[in-house]
Amino acid sequence: MWNRIWDTIFSDNEWGKYPPEDLIRFIARDFYAAPSRSDVRILEVGCGTGANLWYLAREGFRVTGIDGSRVGVERAAARLKAESLEGTVLVGDIVSLPFEDETFDCAIDIECLYANSRKDCARILSEIHRVLKPGGKLFSKTFMTGTTGEGSGPKLEGEENTYLELREGPLRQGCGLIRLTSEREIPELYHPFRIDSVDTLLRSEKNQAHVTKEWIIQCTKA
Ligand SMILES: C[S@@+](CC[C@H](N)C(=O)[O-])C[C@H]1O[C@@H](n2cnc3c(N)ncnc32)[C@H](O)[C@@H]1O
Repeated sequence: MWNRIWDTIFSDNEWGKYPPEDLIRFIARDFYAAPSRSDVRILEVGCGTGANLWYLAREGFRVTGIDGSRVGVERAAARLKAESLEGTVLVGDIVSLPFEDETFDCAIDIECLYANSRKDCARILSEIHRVLKPGGKLFSKTFMTGTTGEGSGPKLEGEENTYLELREGPLRQGCGLIRLTSEREIPELYHPFRIDSVDTLLRSEKNQAHVTKEWIIQCTKA
C-alpha cells in the first residue's frame, strides 16, 4: 500500500535525477537492439520523480510510469515535458495496476517494492505478471537483508523482514515501511516468473559504517 510519506519526502528534498548504472546495463543488453524502440513498452512501478522514465524516454522507448505520489508524478511529467519527451505518468497504488493484460514488454522496480509489505508485494508482482506480455522482462532492484540498520526498528506484525521504520543505517527514519528481502524469499515472492538471474550490489558509506546491500533480480514472464 502506498505511504503518503513519499509526498513529504519529494516535497522536502531534491531527489536523484539519474538512473542507476545497473538499469542502464540491463536495458542496453536486452533492448538497445530492438528494431523499433518506440514499439517497446516499458512500465516503471513507483517511478517517483522520473529519473528512470527520463532516461528510457531519451533512449526512444515508449514509457509509462505509475506512482502513489502526486508530487512525484507531477515532477516526472514536468521533466519529460521540459525536454519534449513522450511518456505517460499516472498517480495510483500499484497493488492494482490500471492496465490491460499483456500490455508491456518490460517492467522495472527501482527500489519501490521494498516499500511495501510482503503481502502487498506478492499482489504487486502478480499484477506486474498480468500486465507483461509473454516473454516480457522484469528488472527488480530491492534492498537485501544485511543492510545496516536491519533489526533496529519495530516489525510489521506477521512479517519476518518488514519494519515500520528503521532507527539506524542508510534507511533510517522518515523513509516509511522498509521490507528487506532474504535470499530464501526471492523464489517465494517472484514465483509467477521464471527467475533468470539474481545478483548483488554492495555500497558502503561513512567510512563503511553504513552498508547498503541490494538484489538485482531479473525475471521473464514464461
Ligand atoms: C525509493 S522511491 C524510488 C523512486 C524511483 N523508482 C527512483 O528510482 O527514483 C520509491 C517510490 O515508490 C513509490 N511507491 C512505493 N509503494 C508504492 C505503491 N504501493 N503504489 C504506488 N507507488 C508506490 C513511492 O511513492 C516512491 O515514489
